[in-house]
Amino acid sequence: MSIASEIVDLCAVNEIADGEIRRGELPSGHAVAIYHVNGEFFVTDDICSHGEASLSEDGSLDGYEVECSWHFGRFDVRSGEPCAMPCEIALRTWPVKVEDGRVY
Ligand code: FES
Repeated sequence: MSIASEIVDLCAVNEIADGEIRRGELPSGHAVAIYHVNGEFFVTDDICSHGEASLSEDGSLDGYEVECSWHFGRFDVRSGEPCAMPCEIALRTWPVKVEDGRVY
């Protein structure tokens, strides 16, 4: 089964407060960032596309945008698209499903 079609149980919904980010890991060891925004959950790659910052550790949420504290670049967590310089390369996003209080 390819990584893209695998369903991964990332965490419980109540483990991430609204407006918070948490690091998650795929079975391959690939790190992702899980965002909770107004009751919705989004997942992108954890590593900022501008440098090596971990967005779950060094990022902060402002609505649907995550700001990387290293150089203050921003991404839209819904699409992964960069929305503030110096970030120019989109983050990979992952499909999210919330079911029975779990984030997949
Ligand atoms: Fe994230 Fe530079 S490493 S903005």
